[in-house]
Amino acid sequence: MTKKISIIGAGKVGSTTAHILALKGLAEDIVLINRTEGIAKGIALDIMESMPVEGRNVKVYGSSNYSLISGSDIVVITAGAQRKEGMSREDLLKINSNIVTEISNEIKKYAPESIIIIVTNPLDAMAYLVKKVTGFERNRVIGMAGVLDSSRLRSFMAEELKADVNDINALVLGSHGDSMVAAVSHTTFNGAPISKMIGNERLGKLIARTKDAGAEIIKLEGSSAFYAPASSVVSMIDSILNDKMKMMPCSVYVEGEYGLKDIFIGLPVALGKNGAAIAEQLSLDESEKEELILSSEKISKSIKELDI
Ligand code: 2OP
Repeated sequence: MTKKISIIGAGKVGSTTAHILALKGLAEDIVLINRTEGIAKGIALDIMESMPVEGRNVKVYGSSNYSLISGSDIVVITAGAQRKEGMSREDLLKINSNIVTEISNEIKKYAPESIIIIVTNPLDAMAYLVKKVTGFERNRVIGMAGVLDSSRLRSFMAEELKADVNDINALVLGSHGDSMVAAVSHTTFNGAPISKMIGNERLGKLIARTKDAGAEIIKLEGSSAFYAPASSVVSMIDSILNDKMKMMPCSVYVEGEYGLKDIFIGLPVALGKNGAAIAEQLSLDESEKEELILSSEKISKSIKELDI
């Protein structure tokens, strides 16, 4: 069965996602959709021309015509304005709501059976908008954030401990914003609680750096991150396409889980062929529960500004 992934937005995140997918051979067909068609066509051609060297028989197409996304297993939404230095992700809500609404209607029309992964910020509100506009069941609308934030925290802790990143696990939940929740009680180094290896003050600094990591990169290179976001999207796609049911923190729609409802928020989910399945309620300590509530309130406020 030919696996097909469509990516809306041929910017750095979208094009890097397409490139990594092609290198890994995760899908036979990749479609890049961009408003400026030449950009999508040029990037698609460039990646396709690398496939013989990489030994991958992956077909990559670029267009501005949404009909090409028909039959996609997964559609990734990366299109939208990026924040500039000093802006919060929430500052993008108005401009990106219009863009994401238009894209959602096209996906509803041309790929009504697909699973949608959203990257566009403000992430949790945009995921809510996609579900509202498409009318897709909640398991098929998934926001990419927690995988990225958890990977960032893991990389900072590995640097701190001069350890192998594979020996460190982290779980960042809640919003993809300043109120994100680092579940320290589920953060380990070789299976041991991380708090045994890193003192509270240092851990607090690493968590603060994780919350600010997106802004740190914008300050350094003048534009948003794209390698870590793209790798995070691809890890989600791999679990879905290959029905691995890997447990990952993703922004999903809640209907009472954790006492929350009618918002999208980062929670541990199993990703498989049907999309996201919210896991059994995670045991969180009191402070983590309080932080999750605060985070949900920030997201609710952002969603209310959608005015839908
Ligand atoms: C980030 O945190 C773009 O939101 C993304 O870098």
